Amino acid sequence: MIKGEKIRFDIHNILYSIYKLNKTLNSSSIKKIIDKHDKKDISFLNNVTLNSMRFHLHSSRIIGKYIKKKIRDKEKILLISAITQIVFLGFKDYAVVNCSVEIAKKLNLHHGLINAVLKSISKNKEDLKKINIQFDELPEWFKNKTISLTDNEKNNFIKNFYKEPSLHIVFKSEQKLKEFEEDLLKTSEISGFLKNKKDLKKIESFRKGDWWVQDFSSFFPLFSLQIKKSNKKFLDACAAPGGKAFQILSHNNQIILNDKSKKRIKILEENLNRLNFKSKISNQDFIKFNNEQKFDFIIIDAPCSSVGTIRKNPEIFFKNKGPNFKNLEIIQGNLLKKASVLLNNKGYILYMTCSFLEVETINQINIFLKKNSDFELFNFNLDKKFIKYSKFIKEGLMITFPDKILEYNIDGYFAACLKKIK
Ligand SMILES: C[S@@+](CC[C@H](N)C(=O)[O-])C[C@H]1O[C@@H](n2cnc3c(N)ncnc32)[C@H](O)[C@@H]1O
Repeated sequence: MIKGEKIRFDIHNILYSIYKLNKTLNSSSIKKIIDKHDKKDISFLNNVTLNSMRFHLHSSRIIGKYIKKKIRDKEKILLISAITQIVFLGFKDYAVVNCSVEIAKKLNLHHGLINAVLKSISKNKEDLKKINIQFDELPEWFKNKTISLTDNEKNNFIKNFYKEPSLHIVFKSEQKLKEFEEDLLKTSEISGFLKNKKDLKKIESFRKGDWWVQDFSSFFPLFSLQIKKSNKKFLDACAAPGGKAFQILSHNNQIILNDKSKKRIKILEENLNRLNFKSKISNQDFIKFNNEQKFDFIIIDAPCSSVGTIRKNPEIFFKNKGPNFKNLEIIQGNLLKKASVLLNNKGYILYMTCSFLEVETINQINIFLKKNSDFELFNFNLDKKFIKYSKFIKEGLMITFPDKILEYNIDGYFAACLKKIK
C-alpha cells in the first residue's frame, strides 16, 4: 500500500470502530493505531478523522443525493471520509478518489460505485459545500432530550455544532497574562482566546506552566463566583484532568483533588507538575468517601453525556449508540447526595456538567432542592465589567450552548451553586 492509502485505511478502521464498536478516539486500541504514525501523519489523521465525524450528517445527506439504494456500513464510512476530504477540507480529488477505490478493493466493497459517486461529487463540490442540514437530521436520542429548546436555540445549535473548537486559555495571574508572548483576545484579565492555533509545547510560557487550556464556558462559573484566597476546606470530587481545580489553586487555596479514574489521575498529576501546583490527591469513588470528613466547598464536575463539547468530541453524534442517560442520571444524583452529606453548615456545592440537556442539569438541581430543604440556589455574582456575559445566567443558573462569543467558539455548559443554609 502507498503511504496515502495506508493512512486513509487506518482512518477508515478508526471511524468504523467508533461508529460500530462504540470506541472513542482515546480508546487504547485506537491510540495504538495512531501511535504507529509520525507527527505529521498524526496531524493529518486527526484532521480527517475529527472532521469526518463533524461533517458526517452533511456527507450522509450528499450520499443520499447520489445513491438511492441501501449501502453497507463500511461503504458509507469510506464515502463519508472521502466526501469530507474533497468537499469540506478541499483536498485534491484524484488522490482521495484513487485511495478510496483501492481501500474499497481491499475490503471487498463495491469499488465501482465508490469511484463513480466520488467522481460526480468532485465535479459539484462547490455547490455541495453549501449544503445545510436540519435539526430533524440529528440523532433520535438527542432530539428526544431537546424537545424543550426554543426554535432559536435549535437553529443556533445546527449552525454551530460541527465547527472546529477555539482554543481558550486561563492564566495563573493577571501578571502572567501581561507577559504572554502570543496574540490573545482577552475574555477577562486572566483569560483569552489564542488567535493563532499552534503546538502548545512550542510556547515557552506553556512549558513554564503559566497557563492551562480551559474552555470559556467551563472557566466561567468559578470565575464568576470570584473565589479568593481563604481558609475554606475545598474538595474537587471529580477533578481530573484539573481545569476547575487549577482555578482554585491559582488563588493559593488548599484543595483535595479526587478522581475515580487512575488513568485520568495520571494526567492530572502531569498537569499539576507542569503548572508547579502542589495538592493532595485522592483516587477514590467519591460515593464511598468517608462521611466523617467535612468540607466548606465541594466541586462536582459530574460525568455526563458531554454533548456540550460536541465540537471537541464529534464522536458523540457519530456513534450509532447514544449515551446511557439512565446510568448517568443515577451517578449525577448520587454525587450530589454524597456532597450534601460531606458539607459543613453554610457550605457550597458547585454542580457542573458539560451538557445543556435538562435531564443532566436543571432537573438534577430541582430534584436535589426538592429533597433537601436545607439548601438554596446561590447566585453567580458577575462583576459590572463582565455584564456582557450576563446572558449566560438565567434564574440563578448558568447555561451555555455551543455558541460564539467575540467571534470564537465556546462549549455548551451548565453550573449551579447550592448553599447549605443551616
Ligand atoms: C467532567 S470530568 C471532570 C473534569 C475536571 N473537573 C476538570 O475540570 O478538568 C468527570 C470526572 O469524573 C470522574 N468520576 C466519575 N465518577 C466518579 C466517582 N464516582 N467518583 C469520583 N470521580 C468520578 C471521571 O473519572 C472524570 O474524570
